[in-house]
Amino acid sequence: MGGLDRGDDDWEQFARRDPYWAVLTDERFRTAKLSAARRAEFFAAGEKHMAAVFAWCEEMRPAPWSPRRALDFGCGVGRLLPALARRCAAVVGADVSEAMLAEAATNRRRMAMSNVELVRSDDELRDIQGGFDLIHSVIVFQHIAPVRGEAIFARLCGLLAEDGVAVLHFTTGSRRGVMASQLSDLRDRVRPVNAVANLLAGRAPGNPPMRMYEYSAPRLEQLAADCGCDVVARRDFAVPGHNGILLCVARN
Ligand SMILES: C[S@@+](CC[C@H](N)C(=O)[O-])C[C@H]1O[C@@H](n2cnc3c(N)ncnc32)[C@H](O)[C@@H]1O
Repeated sequence: MGGLDRGDDDWEQFARRDPYWAVLTDERFRTAKLSAARRAEFFAAGEKHMAAVFAWCEEMRPAPWSPRRALDFGCGVGRLLPALARRCAAVVGADVSEAMLAEAATNRRRMAMSNVELVRSDDELRDIQGGFDLIHSVIVFQHIAPVRGEAIFARLCGLLAEDGVAVLHFTTGSRRGVMASQLSDLRDRVRPVNAVANLLAGRAPGNPPMRMYEYSAPRLEQLAADCGCDVVARRDFAVPGHNGILLCVARN
């Protein structure tokens, strides 16, 4: 059986065991090592990313660009929510994982973010009300199989306000060698192989693999056009082992 149906459960497991590590897969952010200083570093990375996103959008939108309502799709523990909450009147963080959302709620309380709403997301985006001036998502679609992710992408386009923009990240190709790609594929599909790989790496055998998927940029552009939107700008945005792009999408 392919990994498609297990992806959401895997995220729940990641979120219960090691949510900050699962977001940035950086050893500094393992739960056991998470001091106040490390937590501050984690959110500083979110601020840095969001400042760059806003600077990019401001190059394209008439100044002053000040989105009122923003959505962070696949918000995780809320790394980007403080940065959005400072810049927008109302922010929605959506995620498929209850445990991620619970940690995001703790962070919301810690940082007194009264303008942030947290929503459990499904593929239909049923509980997310549209009319967003900014829709953002980074290092999320890479973990969603394209057959699901493309449909979600189209639905997100439909949630944009008239003058809204969506800044969305997709991985587009692997930088790993053939052997590494094949092993990763095997770990995704055959759990005993994953268990052995975990044991060899000194991890618990039941740790799920973190799945990675690749999208076709021309296909995303076509999907945007089918939804009455245009890809108005794109930037390279690679992640370890994969090439990627950040697309800026607006209604046409
Ligand atoms: C690597 S984390 C990134 C979190 C956040 N975007 C950040 O940059 O800090 C990926 C997040 O995507 C969420 N996710 C995975 N599949 C999803 C889906 N189908 N719908 C919504 N969220 C999803 C996971 O639960 C996880 O919180």
